[in-house]
Amino acid sequence: MPECYISRVRIGRTKDYGKKMHRTLQKYFGYSSFRPLQEDIIKDVLEDRDTFVLMPTGGGKSLCYQLPALLMDGLTVVVSPLISLMKDQVDSLQASGINAAYLNSTLSYSEAKRIYREIENNEIKILYVAPERLTMSHTISLIQKANVSLFAIDESHCISEWGHDFRPEYRRLSFLKRKFPGVPIIALTATATPKVREDTIKQLGISDCGTYVASFNRKNLLYKIRPKKDTYKQILKYLRKHRGESGIIYCQSRKNVDTIASRLRRDGFNALPYHAGLSDSRREKNQEMFIRDDVEIVVATIAFGMGIDKSNVRFVIHHDLPKNLEGYYQETGRGGRDGLECECILFFSRGDRYKIEYFIKQKGKKEERDIALKQLQDMVAFCESTVCRRKVLLAYFGEVLEEDDCGRCDVCLQPRKKVDGTEEARILINCISELNQRYGMNHVIDVLCGSNAKKIRDKKHNKLASHGAGDIHTKDRWMEIAREMIQQELIKVQGARYPLLKLNKASMEVMNGKRKVTLTTIEDTDFEEPEPAERMVPDKAVASPGKTKNNSAPVSEIKWTANRDDGLFARLKQLRKKMAELQDVPPYVVFADTSLKQMASKKPGSKDEMLKITGVGEYKLKKYGETFLKEISNYCQEQEESSYNQNSVDDDPNSEKENQQNPACDTKETLASDPDQKREKILKTISGLEKELIILTKAKLDENFSEDEIRAVWSEILAESE
Ligand SMILES: Nc1ncnc2c1ncn2[C@@H]1O[C@H](COP(=O)(O)OP(=O)(O)OP(=O)(O)O)[C@@H](O)[C@H]1O
Ligand SMILES: [Mg+2]
Ligand SMILES: [Zn+2]
Repeated sequence: MPECYISRVRIGRTKDYGKKMHRTLQKYFGYSSFRPLQEDIIKDVLEDRDTFVLMPTGGGKSLCYQLPALLMDGLTVVVSPLISLMKDQVDSLQASGINAAYLNSTLSYSEAKRIYREIENNEIKILYVAPERLTMSHTISLIQKANVSLFAIDESHCISEWGHDFRPEYRRLSFLKRKFPGVPIIALTATATPKVREDTIKQLGISDCGTYVASFNRKNLLYKIRPKKDTYKQILKYLRKHRGESGIIYCQSRKNVDTIASRLRRDGFNALPYHAGLSDSRREKNQEMFIRDDVEIVVATIAFGMGIDKSNVRFVIHHDLPKNLEGYYQETGRGGRDGLECECILFFSRGDRYKIEYFIKQKGKKEERDIALKQLQDMVAFCESTVCRRKVLLAYFGEVLEEDDCGRCDVCLQPRKKVDGTEEARILINCISELNQRYGMNHVIDVLCGSNAKKIRDKKHNKLASHGAGDIHTKDRWMEIAREMIQQELIKVQGARYPLLKLNKASMEVMNGKRKVTLTTIEDTDFEEPEPAERMVPDKAVASPGKTKNNSAPVSEIKWTANRDDGLFARLKQLRKKMAELQDVPPYVVFADTSLKQMASKKPGSKDEMLKITGVGEYKLKKYGETFLKEISNYCQEQEESSYNQNSVDDDPNSEKENQQNPACDTKETLASDPDQKREKILKTISGLEKELIILTKAKLDENFSEDEIRAVWSEILAESE
């Protein structure tokens, strides 16, 4: 957990990289501004300093080594544990015109040999390697011959035994500093407690590194907690409203995953399961289909998701309660990586809490059990909170959210009714006091509600004055009141294993009549989704280039507009899918949703206008610009024509009659009996396909071939066949 927020700015830099950095950012990545901390980190790296980067998932860590790699002379070696995703990462870089490659066990001997040769010839800028491959003597001598300018250790928490994802092969990376003393190291992670952070830095031998800790506030994520009741029905209702959008549904058990995935398929949704009980190949296939937009929904256990850079995940649903906030944060973090809105909905029940508690109590050492129970308590407190969810979540990561209303969580979107709760507060405090502050919430409230359970009678708590003093409310309502009083620090909870309710100075003030208490009441939402806030489309034109000192959410590049043409967006998505399939890459490698949405709202008409779209760099403009511009212009023309036709049909009272005489409206029988008309129809269809054929041909060639050149050749072929 970050304890401090450091943005180190070095004084007395000798080189000014500023302009070059911005130029490279635009040219290769198509972005007009850096996200918080990226610029400072990159400058440190370019000055050959070791750096440690802690940034939330989706925060933009990759750019912190990919961009310096392009500005530095030699080879950047990226260590990543995620072999299954290396190909996609490399495809993505290549699609932006960057010479990248990977070395791992999936390569054939001849493929690996080709990469070795390219490394020796200094043809590769960024090389992804699996840690076990990098520690092989052959690889070491290979990269010793190459001019290595930077080592980037991605998911660097894997090096620490204290982390949740320790990998022994990462441990051996400590040789890097010894063997390559002059080469800077950048270590990156999204999960690191202070202990893991210290250990990672120590193991890598980079104790003098610059440390960067970004804010964990992901502003584009909308957090919502729903009661876990008719859960499947609620999910179905949500999915029907969001057809065609990509999302993940997390469940605690494999059984739940399988059941929900198959029910969803029966109900007409494209959903696939993902859990450790499936074969490796099935898991890989399902993950790939999701990444490539072949399937919209993945129902998964927490085994799913690490390092996946699918940018357009629009919802993350937790069907069951997660075990801790760290896991919840990671899982929701897989949504909205393109900076656009993602809804994170968690179905909460106290029943789930007790189930998890039961499992925790079954195993492990006492110390581990206590930690797990405390984490579960924090998770539950988040779900039951009556203050802004974001505030609670960020507080868990040691960050303070200044504003009281984030505007993007269910609490802030549906403000609760405020009521005077001074009397209730007194009743509760009195009961805690009568019980000598030696009982937990459940017991205190059982006494208040006048329970005659054996445990109450045995302790003679049915004889206390407080027994039954709270019969004005139900037990559930008292639970809410107690939780709210804990949040307002009017009472406190002590002890991890057996949390007891205790009094404090504020409790005394309430009892002495020196303090009034305001509580909130929950409206019955009838499980309706509150209307989502206006859908958001980022607008690159308002980005402010230049150095950012803002250490907040990675969405500073965004201004939201809502004038997107959904018809055009759907067409551009189809075109993207086609181009991606032809090149055998995931669709986001061609363009992210952010880019397509901006195109659908701005409708660029020239290459210059296209360059202003976020995610369109010079290389992608050359490769795809013409094709996408054509699609946009065709779409706009079709829209115009159809509105013109519509108008003229509306205007002309004879139009119906005319239509009846139009040969295009002939019946099937006449057409079937007339070979000439059939031939004409076929020819018409073929010429209608011309546009698609040109696009397909262009995608198979490189950016040196324009659509006009291809069209000319196609016309020749058609003329010959006439
Ligand atoms: N300056 C920027 N402007 C706009 N988009 C950006 C910028 N930097 C990065 N991105 C985009 O943000 C997304 C997430 O970036 P990235 O994959 O680097 O995240 P990450 O920090 O590595 O997350 P994880 O921990 O999940 O791996 C990517 O789609 C990337 O293209
Ligand atoms: Mg990453
Ligand atoms: Zn909020």
